Amino acid sequence: MCGIVGFTGEHQAAPILLDGLSKLEYRGYDSAGLAVRDGENLAQVVKAKGRLSNLAEKTDDGHTLKGTCGIGHTRWATHGEPSQTNAHPHVSGNCSGSGSGMVESEVVGVHNGIIENYTELKEKLLKHGYTFYSQTDTEVVIKLVDYYYKKYNLGPIDAIAKTMVRVRGSYALELMFKDYPGEIWVARKDSPMIIGIADGETYVASDVPAILKYTRNVYYIGNLEFAKLTPGEAHFYNLDGDEIEKETTEIKWDAEAAEKAGFEHFMMKEIHEQPKAIQDTLNSVIKEDKIDLSTVEITDEEIQNFDQIYIVACGSAWHVGMAAQYVFEDLADIPVRVELASEFRYRKMPLNQKALVIVVSQSGETADTLAAFRMAKEKNITTMAIVNVVGSSIAREADKVFYTLAGPEISVATTKAYSAQLAAMYCLAVQFAKVRGKISEEQYSYYISEMLTIPDKMQKVLEDKERIQWFASKYANAHDVFFVGRGIDYAVCLEGSLKLKEISYIHSEAYAAGELKHGTISLIEQGTLVIGVLTQSELYEKTISNMLECKSRGAYLMGLTTYGKYEIEDQVNFTVYVPKVDEHFVGSLAVVPLQLIGYYVSVAKGLDVDKPRNLAKSVTVE
Ligand code: F6R
Repeated sequence: MCGIVGFTGEHQAAPILLDGLSKLEYRGYDSAGLAVRDGENLAQVVKAKGRLSNLAEKTDDGHTLKGTCGIGHTRWATHGEPSQTNAHPHVSGNCSGSGSGMVESEVVGVHNGIIENYTELKEKLLKHGYTFYSQTDTEVVIKLVDYYYKKYNLGPIDAIAKTMVRVRGSYALELMFKDYPGEIWVARKDSPMIIGIADGETYVASDVPAILKYTRNVYYIGNLEFAKLTPGEAHFYNLDGDEIEKETTEIKWDAEAAEKAGFEHFMMKEIHEQPKAIQDTLNSVIKEDKIDLSTVEITDEEIQNFDQIYIVACGSAWHVGMAAQYVFEDLADIPVRVELASEFRYRKMPLNQKALVIVVSQSGETADTLAAFRMAKEKNITTMAIVNVVGSSIAREADKVFYTLAGPEISVATTKAYSAQLAAMYCLAVQFAKVRGKISEEQYSYYISEMLTIPDKMQKVLEDKERIQWFASKYANAHDVFFVGRGIDYAVCLEGSLKLKEISYIHSEAYAAGELKHGTISLIEQGTLVIGVLTQSELYEKTISNMLECKSRGAYLMGLTTYGKYEIEDQVNFTVYVPKVDEHFVGSLAVVPLQLIGYYVSVAKGLDVDKPRNLAKSVTVE
């Protein structure tokens, strides 16, 4: 939700921190703040409500804050309204209303996550004479560190370990202690945080793009671990305060991947990166025209023994599961249940012990997905993660990991990660089909060769984007849009509808076309836009007749189908074609025009495409 950064080294910290925060603004952005220390001087705190640009303006792009050690934060409010007082950093001492200026406090810190027992901890601290100036759970945790720090007088290691034992919830915590100049202390549980190391410099960030410009060498700090960071060094500890050895990992993403590269928005850049994301993901497992899942560490014997698949995810990743279920069931003849992680985690359902639970997550940090996945693990069910971020919590804890190679995705609305996830699912489904003896050698080769045509065909869809732009501009003022389809087309509709509503703020619904007449059709009025996805030959007639029922009630119809089905032009008002590919995989192509519609409507309305209101990229709270 929030974004955190830190730096200690030889350079001035504030400009580096602001630069890092600008790469994390997609995580949340109702306020931001910095705390910077110049040698042994007290930390200087500056906070600003609203966009990061307000903080940059207030500090003259960081130049008014002197010092080579500092921490920073962009906030997305959970406890307490968005305000300057509630913005981070928070301090252990008392603080004036705005919370900016030199701080006398022992401890100053920032936090991403949620402290679940903060009310109980606050009461304890109130009894010990602490007063609170903000409504945040973060102020509570920082004062708790201060409490243990003073009570035991044993230094940061003990104070942090005791705090970690006492708090419940999730946190990526960064602290600076008045008595330890040049040091940043960090602690982590269930919230993302990485440590970057370069010569004489150490960086902290919630996500890779914030530090890519400076270093590719990172440490992953594990759950319930904490660390002391000094220029160019990091020392890690477990809850007992024992030091733990760690190796750095090299990040393969290049720095340009986190820049806009001439596109107006990250979303458009990422839409164009989809062919590559799919190609790279397919290439990671397709070797000499065969699928090789050895990197995923799943054996043929295991594949033969599963008798059920659960796909568990949130949002667009759940839509990937919705599309994949049809492919798995049809090709590999294995029952699939697709579950929303937020529901699955609390459901008291009998779980099949011979099942495979596949969790799908771009970030690998989504709180509900993580919890659902841990629940499956506790029940001894084999877990596989389809994840984009290397070293994320889900990737580290899953029994098997299939990495999507989409590179960093910055736009809040996912596009290329979704497409890469779908490609990964196709590979799994085809391999399951082959290993379980459900398809012949010829069919196996055919499906693989068809999958490999997706990137080029998607490129063709992208070349035709001006037509979509024209159409989108006509519907920029629509109030309601309906997406209808059956089977895989329905799954594509779910994603198209979400894209439209999340970035263009138009109410839209995705319906399994046959369901319209059971209620929703009463919402169709003169001019209502109904977008039908009709790529599945067997279901074409059924869906088109549902669309015509809408047309006879005044709807304007857009039909999205494959080249060759030209009869559609007599039935709908506007047609979009995508190239033909085996129909199990055509969802990958059909989704692109829908992503473009969402994008162009958002641009036409002058909205913030990459950072839609109320949304954050990585939902690390429930
Ligand atoms: C929508 C979108 C979200 C995510 C969802 C899961 O465009 O991006 O619906 O798909 O929040 O996120 P991850 O994949 O990180 O678990």
